[in-house]
Amino acid sequence: MARLTIRDLSLSGKRVFIRVDFNVPVKNGKISDDGRILAALSTIRHAVEQGAAVILASHLGRPGGSGFQEEYSMMPVFHRLREIFGDTVEYSRDLIGETAETASRQLKSGHILLLENLRFHPGEKKDDKTFAAALKKLADLYVNDAFGTCHRAHASVHALPALFETPAAGFLVEKEIHYFDDILKNPVRPYVVILGGAKVSDKIPVIRHLMGNVDRILIGGAMAYSFLKMKGIAVGNSRIEEDRLELAAELMKQAAERNIPMELPIDHVAADSFGNPKDIIITEGEEIPDGYMGLDIGPETIVRYREFLEQAKTVLWNGPMGVFEDERFAVGTLSVAETLAESDAVSIIGGGDSAAAVRKAGLQDKITHISTGGGASLSYMSGEKLPGIEILAEKGE
Ligand code: 3PG
Repeated sequence: MARLTIRDLSLSGKRVFIRVDFNVPVKNGKISDDGRILAALSTIRHAVEQGAAVILASHLGRPGGSGFQEEYSMMPVFHRLREIFGDTVEYSRDLIGETAETASRQLKSGHILLLENLRFHPGEKKDDKTFAAALKKLADLYVNDAFGTCHRAHASVHALPALFETPAAGFLVEKEIHYFDDILKNPVRPYVVILGGAKVSDKIPVIRHLMGNVDRILIGGAMAYSFLKMKGIAVGNSRIEEDRLELAAELMKQAAERNIPMELPIDHVAADSFGNPKDIIITEGEEIPDGYMGLDIGPETIVRYREFLEQAKTVLWNGPMGVFEDERFAVGTLSVAETLAESDAVSIIGGGDSAAAVRKAGLQDKITHISTGGGASLSYMSGEKLPGIEILAEKGE
């Protein structure tokens, strides 16, 4: 059943607590990527336009939970919000208690109160009910627009919404649910999944879960070398996960039993070292010579994967094809990004590094949906229930 959304709430004159994911990168007090703030703006603007007094709350980084720490302060976020909304934005260093409650009661309709980092309180990560009850005093309504945090059963995403009658999703969470639940559960076929990244271990639950629904799986990134090794193919000095090799073999067997083609790279860009390579080669075929390590998919693989992606009607992508931070090994990842940008297929990117690669290539507007969650989208793709979503009210409840 569909979840209640902010559209279903009558916001005028109410204090609405919006849990956002403003866990943005901050260096020397400056935000280097404000994407997560911008992603929550439509929800915040909607609440402001409907005449709500908006209480915004987020975590930032991983402070220890023992009070205020300058380096994890929400102050840079406060300044960014003031640039966007002007002096209608106020700040509360207190998360709970008399001062915060008074600030929330005095907040005018259409104004915004930003709370300090939720993780400064030890109760946040413990999903503490007493902390949640104290936060509840700040608001009449609750909205979760922090998709990136929905896989955490923390107080502001779990214990707190449980105390409201109508905890609802913001536009961002609604959109993520739509793509992961509605679109990917009933995909237009062929449905192709392309997975990369360093570790097989991160992707095992994802592959297992997707196997029930997908038509083809393309593998790239360092995780491919563990699969190749289990097929008896030489991988030189490539990074592999010894303790996951059996699992990799089991996954390949399961895919074969279900007639799901699981494609592995047929050539590679390889180098004699990772940090400071002196010799970079393109392998002839799938074997990587001794003394070399695979660092990107090769040109033949790019052509082959492009063909599969061009035939697809739905594509889910998670994880880069190589060490894309280094442009010598970024071609495979960028070519996947370009192919998806050019294609008419529904393209969904499961957050993290592949999302960063698409943004780096300036192709973000040509992708159907780029998830704002890293860990959250991986959990979702693995078929897990996310506590922050499960706790939201269902329509018609
Ligand atoms: C993220 O950046 O993935 C989210 O904000 C969650 O942060 P966390 O991994 O510290 O819980």
